[in-house]
Amino acid sequence: MSSLVFILKDGTRKSVEAEPGHTLLEIAQKNGLDVEGACEGSLSCSTCHMIIAPDWYKRLPEASDEENDMLDLASGLTRTSRLGCQLVMQADWDGMEVRLPSAVRNMALS
Ligand code: FES
Repeated sequence: MSSLVFILKDGTRKSVEAEPGHTLLEIAQKNGLDVEGACEGSLSCSTCHMIIAPDWYKRLPEASDEENDMLDLASGLTRTSRLGCQLVMQADWDGMEVRLPSAVRNMALS
């Protein structure tokens, strides 16, 4: 079984089992992590924003234009930001570090 290391909003590191074929959003939610995923993966929110460790970011498939458009709306955007609902876990991502941003755009206020 592969694993992912999530770095939580308070800086805590949490290693979780990550079954290939599931999205990072699904894996985070299954492990009770605080990721909203308001649109459930339909690319119409940015509440599944995650920040990938730079060494790992390079190994990910490129983001689609639609993902990049949504990422532009994410608060705390970084150069290694991705949307967790668009990343499908691969066996060779074992040990990848993924940080949860401390603030997400609040849909209710926008
Ligand atoms: Fe809405 Fe990922 S859950 S874009």
